[in-house]
Amino acid sequence: MSQALNMAFVGCGAIARYHLDGLLEHATNVRITACVDPDPEKAQAYAAETGGQAFTSLEEALEHGDFDAVDLMLPHDLHEDLTIQCLQAGKHVLLEKPMAPTLDACDRILQVASQTDSVFMVAENAQYWPEIVEAKKLIEAGAIGEIITARAAFVYEYDDYWFKEARPWRFERNRTGGGITIDGGSHWIRPLRMWMGEIEEVIGIVGHPLRQMEGESLTRALFRFQSGQCAQFDAMMIDTVFAPEPWWRITGTKGEITISASLSGAELWLWDAEHRDGQMVFSSPGYTASFGPEIADFAAAVLDGKTLAAGPEYALGELRAALAIYRSAESGKWESVWD
Ligand SMILES: NC(=O)c1ccc[n+]([C@@H]2O[C@H](COP(=O)([O-])OP(=O)(O)OC[C@H]3O[C@@H](n4cnc5c(N)ncnc54)[C@H](O)[C@@H]3O)[C@@H](O)[C@H]2O)c1
Repeated sequence: MSQALNMAFVGCGAIARYHLDGLLEHATNVRITACVDPDPEKAQAYAAETGGQAFTSLEEALEHGDFDAVDLMLPHDLHEDLTIQCLQAGKHVLLEKPMAPTLDACDRILQVASQTDSVFMVAENAQYWPEIVEAKKLIEAGAIGEIITARAAFVYEYDDYWFKEARPWRFERNRTGGGITIDGGSHWIRPLRMWMGEIEEVIGIVGHPLRQMEGESLTRALFRFQSGQCAQFDAMMIDTVFAPEPWWRITGTKGEITISASLSGAELWLWDAEHRDGQMVFSSPGYTASFGPEIADFAAAVLDGKTLAAGPEYALGELRAALAIYRSAESGKWESVWD
């Protein structure tokens, strides 16, 4: 049974705050014993808060640190090299999404992971997002009958929280692998897959209203699932003011589920014959509450051999959907996700 897991934070930027808050609340058997960031101030700030050692390079941490697992929270273009470096050093690896910006890089990571006994997990927090999980339970209980269609809308007013550096890596296509679809969009695509199964093909267009960003800041796409059902996926990150709209809307033969949320809270509503004006059936702190269970799942896999809620290969589904949207935006045609 469990003892504590010593883990290193590698990359002490924006998402590290969410990981640490979640971990302190839900994964109390995880101790942060090392904090790595080339920016010494960031590494030291997290080290001071966690009691871990500060390092300015992964090499130094691997040589002198005391940890069995790493939580890699890095610009996408660093995912492949640093994941492989950690796996080859015998560490268990929790890697923020996407696994890597290209499928070839993912293949290389998975190849190395398969040759080790380490746990390798891609952190897709939507898998643990309370309202997403609750919607899945309601759907499986038949609350809205058979799903007909769904809509996911990743609509986010541009602010500089995720873009703090002087030249943010997220503005550079060759660092992210694209724009907002491959990045935040994955958290809107995963729930669709959890509810509706695997996406077969996509058609989409992209735009660039956020001029600073080389990759797309606007996506409109349709997904066709292997089941034959379809869904709409929208993503927008624009420096404007948006009217409220549900982040997800799932339409079934007996009614609808809507999820209205922000980064600080969420409400799940059920609309059916008995509740024509809708009934709020679930509320939660939302997004912020997803990171603790995510890290706890990783820790349980390492410490107790528990099977992950979603293995790393499953995370290829969001990446493949994003890459297929990019191909479709070029070709103007439906593009297969899995070919
Ligand atoms: N799950 C989510 O909701 C969510 C949200 C935001 C970001 N993310 C993911 O988290 C990852 C990081 O994003 P972020 O927003 O925290 O970016 P960020 O730029 O805020 O932080 C990245 C950090 O990595 C550090 N870094 C750069 N090179 C390094 C190296 N060689 N070794 C160690 N540290 C290094 C940077 O100095 C920076 O502090 C990305 O994969 C991103 O897609 C996930």
